[in-house]
Amino acid sequence: MAKPLPGSSFELYAQAMLDHWLGKQVSVEFERDDGYADRSDIAGYFAPPSDWFAVEREAMREARGRVLDIGCGPGRHALHLQKRGLRVVGIDASATQVALARIRGLREVYQASVWRLPKGLGVFDTVILMGNNLGLPGDLPEIQAIYAHHVLRGLASFEEVPPDLEEMRRRHEAMLAAARARLI
Ligand SMILES: C[S@@+](CC[C@H](N)C(=O)[O-])C[C@H]1O[C@@H](n2cnc3c(N)ncnc32)[C@H](O)[C@@H]1O
Repeated sequence: MAKPLPGSSFELYAQAMLDHWLGKQVSVEFERDDGYADRSDIAGYFAPPSDWFAVEREAMREARGRVLDIGCGPGRHALHLQKRGLRVVGIDASATQVALARIRGLREVYQASVWRLPKGLGVFDTVILMGNNLGLPGDLPEIQAIYAHHVLRGLASFEEVPPDLEEMRRRHEAMLAAARARLI
């Protein structure tokens, strides 16, 4: 697996989560290509289910059988499901995140990218991509369709006209060219 670009947001987040776990004061600010800037709630990635969005708890209730958590991070969802008795496998592209999830008690977790799943992972009944991870597989036609639905019907999108597939590709390429995404 290729290493993430140095200084990418990918490793920055992993470092921030590790620092938070070690009890340090952490604050992460980000700015998107369109100028939108905000602060990330790192503590939220360690929060208990009672603090999650209702839709996250609903997704957890739907989980069945053997579960794959893609981009599990420190493992809040995977650990929750493991505690419920489900067989959970976490994968994360960051070695730091994998170590964190393991230290926190996730029994089966591997460093791997969704773009290149390890052979022999087996078959899953449920696959989850939580915490804004839906875009990780980079499947632009699928993402465009989901995003268009939410632009047209949701209440919280940043634009009013859904971008078409070509525009989504242009944005994706611009983001990669700006090296704000990681290559793994
Ligand atoms: C926003 S965090 C979400 C963590 C967790 N799912 C949660 O909601 O608490 C995104 C995670 O995805 C991981 N990640 C990023 N690109 C990935 C890839 N291509 N394959 C697997 N994991 C990836 C990051 O290392 C990070 O831990």
